[in-house]
Amino acid sequence: MIVANWKMNGTRQSVTEWIDSVSGNIDIDNINPCIFCPPACYLEHARKLIEKHNNRIKLGSQIINGTNYDKPLTGGISAKMLKDVGAEYVIIGHSEQRDFLGKINNNFLTEDVEKALSENLKIIFCVGEDFQSKENSETYLCLGEQLDALGQLHSTHENKLRSITVAYEPIWAIGSGLNAEKDYIEETHEFIKKYINDHLGWSQLDIYPAVLYGGSVNLDNCEEIISSTDVDGLLIGGASLNSETFSKIYNLS
Ligand code: 13P
Repeated sequence: MIVANWKMNGTRQSVTEWIDSVSGNIDIDNINPCIFCPPACYLEHARKLIEKHNNRIKLGSQIINGTNYDKPLTGGISAKMLKDVGAEYVIIGHSEQRDFLGKINNNFLTEDVEKALSENLKIIFCVGEDFQSKENSETYLCLGEQLDALGQLHSTHENKLRSITVAYEPIWAIGSGLNAEKDYIEETHEFIKKYINDHLGWSQLDIYPAVLYGGSVNLDNCEEIISSTDVDGLLIGGASLNSETFSKIYNLS
């Protein structure tokens, strides 16, 4: 799975150009899905273009408001709305959102995941340690705590856990131009998979989620990263904005 996360970038024009270009440059198969996550205000526009091209690009939202359903929420975007505009995926727990919202905690994220699952949205659940945690050798502690948000899912959602993909994005690597080294990525992905299997107990349900890597992925490093053991795809920020670069990365992976 190769995911383009545009963050707070783009215009209607650039969304149009990107979809036109990517549609002509890549041949998407079911084995390696291509997910486009523009800002929420362009989802509808993107959906129409994807329909026009009749290609297999899937749409993802960068945002969902899963809490406070019983209260008014100015600016809120619900799982139902995302489904309505044609999103199939949603990114939850991205470090930039965790940071922006400040008080974000696991209960909050678990609710986002549950609301998304109840609308049959697929989830890209992000985890990653900051620089200080890495320096203090607390990476696994930090990742385990974040992954516990998935361990709290209500048992009624068990049959939908297959809709969850995890993305490992070390915060210090995001937008810094410094991707994590291959060995480090392999060790961390192995830890994440083991934690989900053993600690969250998903292996008993025969569920083994894919784990993507994100953080300064570019054309030069994508092949090495994707060839790493336990890396099942890429979550790309900056390098996804350029349609040709993104297409090349998709075709190399
Ligand atoms: P960059 O690829 O720009 O480092 O961003 C990674 C990211 O946050 C994708 O979700």
